[in-house]
Amino acid sequence: MKPAPARGIPGFDDLSLDWLRARGSVKWHRPKRDVLPAWVADMDFPTPPPVVAALYEAVDRHDLGYPDWPDGSPLRSVFAKRMAERHGWAASADRVREQTDLIQCLQLVLHLATSDADAVAVQVPNYPPFLATLQTMNRRIVPIPMEDTDDGWRMDIAALDTAVKRSGCKALVLVNPHNPTGRVLTQDELVEIAAIARRHDLLVISDEIHAELTYAPHRHIPFASLSDDAAHRTVTLTSATKAFNLAAIRCAVTHYGPDRLLALRDAQPPDLYGTVSPLGVIATQAAWEHGDAWHRDLLTVLDRNRRRVHEVVSSRLPLVRHHLPEATYLAWLDTRPLGLGEPPVEKVLRDGRVLLDGGAPFGPDADGFLRLNFATSQDLLDEILARVTAALGGREG
Ligand SMILES: Cc1ncc(COP(=O)(O)O)c(C=O)c1O
Repeated sequence: MKPAPARGIPGFDDLSLDWLRARGSVKWHRPKRDVLPAWVADMDFPTPPPVVAALYEAVDRHDLGYPDWPDGSPLRSVFAKRMAERHGWAASADRVREQTDLIQCLQLVLHLATSDADAVAVQVPNYPPFLATLQTMNRRIVPIPMEDTDDGWRMDIAALDTAVKRSGCKALVLVNPHNPTGRVLTQDELVEIAAIARRHDLLVISDEIHAELTYAPHRHIPFASLSDDAAHRTVTLTSATKAFNLAAIRCAVTHYGPDRLLALRDAQPPDLYGTVSPLGVIATQAAWEHGDAWHRDLLTVLDRNRRRVHEVVSSRLPLVRHHLPEATYLAWLDTRPLGLGEPPVEKVLRDGRVLLDGGAPFGPDADGFLRLNFATSQDLLDEILARVTAALGGREG
């Protein structure tokens, strides 16, 4: 493989504002010039060199014709191999279908497997486009709370059992690792959820996009790997876009456990849901096959950053509740004890000139929360934290 051009690719901690502001993508493009963005889930880091090299190579070959994928894209077997290597899950390449992103994956599965007004269980808070999807598709949202305990965020699994029984849910949308809390469900918790799914014959739609952003000693376990029963009732959604910072490539995979659903999927008009771009497949393949060295360095930097956020929030904003995330590069901060009298996202933007995600779109009762994206350089993170703590009336650092 042709090496990536070495010049012009900065290190993880070597990001200049001019370099970041030259991006056309939304995180840096939308905010005003004096604002530091720590909102949308894109990382500030450069694209992994093996991905850059693979994309350059395709463009250098002028290889932008129709793809030759009579049996599906090469990603199907690449995905299955990666799941086996990283998680010991024997995913089947034959059960993989490509989509442009996880929201499309979710919408398609809901469209095929559920009907108007069907009840669907989902953790709250949650990734806003998933909640919006359920609303616009007129599925009844059955909220399963994530609870803030002294030991961290916990999914209320007992509530799942009761709610599913009471509401007659058809499906569970499980986001694990969880956005926005960063919680990684343990084997015991997953087994409990799988037993509930079996008891109530639930389809489990498992979003595992943050799996490769799990910090040791926590361990991601694919839901479909739990048992034969789980394998047959689980649709797994993932992509390389979070862990390798590739949101623009528009490429994701769905692994269909249930035979009936896979058959329904394959009975759809072949182009109704689009075809992924070969460049998206090339980028994903390069990330999954050649990106591990970059990814190890990434996790070292993110681990340092998550601890930095925790240390600064604990010492300068002791009233703000925050748990060290077990995965993701997102910090979920409960500012309600500060009694601000206005949404914290507005105060931080106005007084601190930092754009964060406000809690409101993540679900009911979340408007006093902030989601802070810490996937940036050490210097920028320190500047962001200094501004945010000052805007929220925190102690001097
Ligand atoms: C839990 C979760 N699912 C899905 C997505 C969507 O990712 P993509 O648009 O790259 O498919 C995100 C993005 O942040 C996410 O956090």
